[in-house]
Amino acid sequence: MRKIKIFDTTLRDGEQSPGVNLSTNEKVEIALQLERLGVDLIEAGFAASSPGDFQSVQAVANKIKNCTVVSLSRSVEKDIDRAWEALKGAENPCIHVFLATSPIHRQYKLRMSKEEVLRQAEAAVRYAKKYMSEIEFSPEDAGRTEIDFLCEVTERVIKAGATRLNIPDTVGYKTPTEFADIFVQLRQRVPGIETIDLSAHCHDDLGLAVANSLAAIQAGVTVIEGTINGIGERAGNAAIEEVALALETRKDFYQATTGLNLKEIARTSRLVSRLTGMIVPGNKAVVGANAFAHESGIHQDGVLKEQTTYEIIRPETVGFSSNKLVLGKHSGRHAFKDKLVELGYDLTVEQVDKLFVKFKDLADRKKNVTDEDIMALVEERLVDVPTTYSLDYVQVSYGSLSVPTATVKVSYLGREAKEEAATGNGSVDSIYKAIERATQESVELLDYKIASVTDGTDALGEVYVRLRQNGITVQGRGVSTDVLEASAKAYIDAINKIVARRGDIKDELEITGNISISAG
Ligand code: KIV
Ligand code: ZN
Repeated sequence: MRKIKIFDTTLRDGEQSPGVNLSTNEKVEIALQLERLGVDLIEAGFAASSPGDFQSVQAVANKIKNCTVVSLSRSVEKDIDRAWEALKGAENPCIHVFLATSPIHRQYKLRMSKEEVLRQAEAAVRYAKKYMSEIEFSPEDAGRTEIDFLCEVTERVIKAGATRLNIPDTVGYKTPTEFADIFVQLRQRVPGIETIDLSAHCHDDLGLAVANSLAAIQAGVTVIEGTINGIGERAGNAAIEEVALALETRKDFYQATTGLNLKEIARTSRLVSRLTGMIVPGNKAVVGANAFAHESGIHQDGVLKEQTTYEIIRPETVGFSSNKLVLGKHSGRHAFKDKLVELGYDLTVEQVDKLFVKFKDLADRKKNVTDEDIMALVEERLVDVPTTYSLDYVQVSYGSLSVPTATVKVSYLGREAKEEAATGNGSVDSIYKAIERATQESVELLDYKIASVTDGTDALGEVYVRLRQNGITVQGRGVSTDVLEASAKAYIDAINKIVARRGDIKDELEITGNISISAG
């Protein structure tokens, strides 16, 4: 079996998904879970693109011990210096330099000749090499680059010291056969290519990202770049869980395997979905809610007789639990704590105590508390945001013939409680107006999503909101058996993040004297 390394770019390319904006703490939380999943490399961000990205790369670099931590960098010295600054504390650091090579990008974006591109790529790799041994180079839009020129670029960056060549199909244009052929050509024509790692980075504009990644593996690449749940720019990147499961399920065909702990896939997918607010579609391969559901009578009959009739992956293989009904209102602290351990959470006594109170409250409202419910409660507060504001209560008066009116009581730093009421053009609108009055925070609601954690009318509802205030965009999440309460909690959570982010930006301004938010 060939070993395929997994390069996870959820925190960099994945975070470039429209509307996604993760805080440093959220990125560290995801990075720790990626380490548990067993990915080989974590691209933590693009250090030079903003002070926030710098801080995240640095925090991940300092925390992660068992994976290589990568920062993206343009092929310019000041970006490379910033990447190194952020990565200094990493056990295994790597700078990933990129420069576009396709005729379209050379002509319209870079306004550079082929010779200039060659010189800049080579100089950037040489410069990065003075900081560390592991350097990845990506010819951006390689998929639409002339193969002869791609061979020239590759030869130059290998000579300059690149240890991994990544071929990005930046706009998701290639078909599997064409994409595989790029690697066949490079391997035949570029001297020294056998001394470095070859990597594939595919986008999903035509829905071919996973197929192209698998074709690249057949053509000899040893590294696959992708994201959890396939999130990323536009239509996203190759979904790591799909690549891993294709290799696992079709070992006979691919003769290749990843080092992933597959049982961590469901948890990783859920965490990324919760923290990014990108809800996984029910029909999503491997991690969708319906991926293991059999609806038709013929299928159900077949699976009951012999599971392999219609199931090629067992849900347990990727960590979905088969034990659904668990605790109830008579369950004690001991059983609850055991359940947390069984679900893989390593929590302090104080955290368990706080969660137990929430669990009891939930068990009073909901007959059967499932594993999913417990995970939703834990993950609601996994990344601690300072609780500047907290919701004491929300009350709504609604009738189809009257104007919805909400009253909320919100505490500031656990002390000064303020009660406010407001009307709105719907219950949620009235709650949000009342919260804005109580907190004196004026924000813009960019997105609102609602999902249920389990089935049934007493299921927990999860609400995601995206708010903006003066250029700061954050996500908030709230969980409750009542969707209006979940809506209020999500709004307060997001406002707390805005307050925290404002504080961080103030600190950055004091330290750096300026702040740049360019994407690079
Ligand atoms: O898609 C792309 O080209 C990229 C590069 C920066 C590797 O994300
Ligand atoms: Zn990309």
